[in-house]
Amino acid sequence: MDPRPIGIFDSGIGGLSVTIEIDRQLPHERLIYYADSGRCPYGVRPVEQIRALSIASVGFLITQGAKLIVVACNTASSAALHHVRAAYPDTPIVGMVPAVKPAALTTRSGKVAVLATVATSKGQALADLISQFAQGVDVSVVAPPGLVELVERGEVNSAATRALLASYLGPLLAQGVDTLVLGCTHFPFLRTAIESISGGRMQLIDSGPAVARQTARVLAERDLEAPANQSGGLHDMTLYTSGDPASVGDTIRTLIGYDVNVVHHIAEVRELVF
Ligand code: DGL
Repeated sequence: MDPRPIGIFDSGIGGLSVTIEIDRQLPHERLIYYADSGRCPYGVRPVEQIRALSIASVGFLITQGAKLIVVACNTASSAALHHVRAAYPDTPIVGMVPAVKPAALTTRSGKVAVLATVATSKGQALADLISQFAQGVDVSVVAPPGLVELVERGEVNSAATRALLASYLGPLLAQGVDTLVLGCTHFPFLRTAIESISGGRMQLIDSGPAVARQTARVLAERDLEAPANQSGGLHDMTLYTSGDPASVGDTIRTLIGYDVNVVHHIAEVRELVF
């Protein structure tokens, strides 16, 4: 038993899509979250920067008392998970990968697309996943500019967002892609807009539920679970952000429908990589 919080990290508020699943599966866990909104997006940065920012962000959550870290960001997991684990060997750290394996198992047309950031799309982690789990499946990897920024502003279903999505999804639908992997934690918030464009022709898969299950397994293995009578979850979460707390708070209200406690903090980066 361990009453300390789980620390959740993303470059911005996309990791809330994973947090919603953690809240659902582990309602007694206290949660703290660091959104590096002031330095988002990570996906267009060189890997050295993503590593330094991820190490700083996770370090901050550990100083706030986190017992376990969830890197709720495909980009940071792909570029930096090994480095973050090496920097904090005493803290269990759960990372994530795009859901290529379930997509390859369930596609009927044999055509899958992965929507991810530039950094994830070029990373070794995704290449390894595709060669390990998607043999014989046609996998298109698309790194669409602009979507992360729209979600950061809470613009998840505006006419401009749907027009941009339609320009990326149109060619995939025309190719016969029937399964879309949401390989960035911001993208599950675009589900309604994507479904309005695809009209049910594509199933959407994200890794949030699997990350929450893995978090539960690691907590159980290490005897780190919260006391059963503890109150926690997303409603009681404190979200630290390096961006503007008022606008981040507005976006969160749009995305999840209620307010959480938003506090300004900039995690200090020690390495000179900028
Ligand atoms: N949410 C992040 C992910 O899952 C990336 C967003 C960004 O580019 O910062 O990949």
